[in-house]
Amino acid sequence: MKRMDLTDKTIVITGAARGLGREMALHLAAERCQLALVDVDEEALSETGQACRDSGSPRLQTNVTNICNESEVEELFDVVASSFGQLHGLVNNAGITRDALLVKYRDGAQVSKMSLEQWQAVIDVNLTGVFLCGREAAARMIELDCSGCIINISSISRSGNMGQSNYSAAKAGVEAMAVTWAKELARFGIRAASIAPGFIGTEMVMAMKPEAREKLTAGIPAGRIGDPAEIARTVQFIFENDYVSGRCFDIDGGLRL
Ligand code: NAI
Repeated sequence: MKRMDLTDKTIVITGAARGLGREMALHLAAERCQLALVDVDEEALSETGQACRDSGSPRLQTNVTNICNESEVEELFDVVASSFGQLHGLVNNAGITRDALLVKYRDGAQVSKMSLEQWQAVIDVNLTGVFLCGREAAARMIELDCSGCIINISSISRSGNMGQSNYSAAKAGVEAMAVTWAKELARFGIRAASIAPGFIGTEMVMAMKPEAREKLTAGIPAGRIGDPAEIARTVQFIFENDYVSGRCFDIDGGLRL
C-alpha cells in the first residue's frame, strides 16, 4: 500500500489558533510534522505554536495572515516555501459564521434580511480564503516538486441549513473545489479532499447553555457531540492514504440537518 509518511512533512493549517485547527495542529505535531500555523489571532496562535512544539513538532512557524487578502496569502506561501524548502499539505480550516435568515417577517412586515455584509464576510473567509490558500499551496507544491494533499473543511451545513445562506453556499463551494482540484492536480501528484463535520465540541459549542446542548445532542444518532480529535484523526487518515482524493468525509455521528 502506498502511504504518505507524515514524519517531517510540511503542512500549513489555517485557523490554527483555536478550535478544530488547534486540535489538528497538536495531532499532526505529535506525528512529527513540520507545521506552518496561520491565523489572525496572534496571541492565541503563538500559544498554540508553543503547545505544538511541546508535543513534538520538529519545526514550526506561526504566521499572522488574513486568508481573504491575496497579497498576504501569496506572501505567506512564499515565506513557507523559502523557510521550509518543501510543502506537502494544506488544511483549509479557518472559517466564520454570520447567521441570519434570508428574510424575516412578523405579522406580514419585514423584520430583517441577511445583509450583504453578512453574506460577503462569510464568502470572503470561507470561500475566497480557501480558494486563495488552495491556489498558492498548489503552485508551491508543484514548484517545489512535492506530492501531497489539500484538505478543505466543509460542514454538514453544505446541504443547506436554516439561517445559513452564506455559510451553506461557501461550504458547498469548498467541497466542489476539492473535487475540482483532485481532477486538476492529480497529474502533479497532489490530492484534494474535504471533511464535513457535524456538531463538534469546540469551546464555542461546549459554551452553549446545557438545555440548548441537550436539545442538539438529542437529534444526533450517535447520541453525543463530536470530539475535535475525531476530526483531527480524519485529517491524518486523508493525508496518509494515497488513494483518497476528490471525496468528502461526513464526520457527524449520523446527523442529517
Ligand atoms: P473557531 O471559530 O473556533 O476557529 C476558527 C479560527 O479561524 C479562529 O482561530 C479564527 O481566528 C480563524 N480565522 C477566522 N477568520 C480568519 C481569517 N480571515 N484569516 C485567518 N484566520 C481566520 O472555529 P472551529 O469551530 O474550530 O471551526 C473550524 C472550521 O470547521 C471552520 O471552517 C468551521 O466552519 C468548520 N466547522 C466547525 C464545526 C464545529 O462544530 N465546530 C462544524 C462544521 C464545520
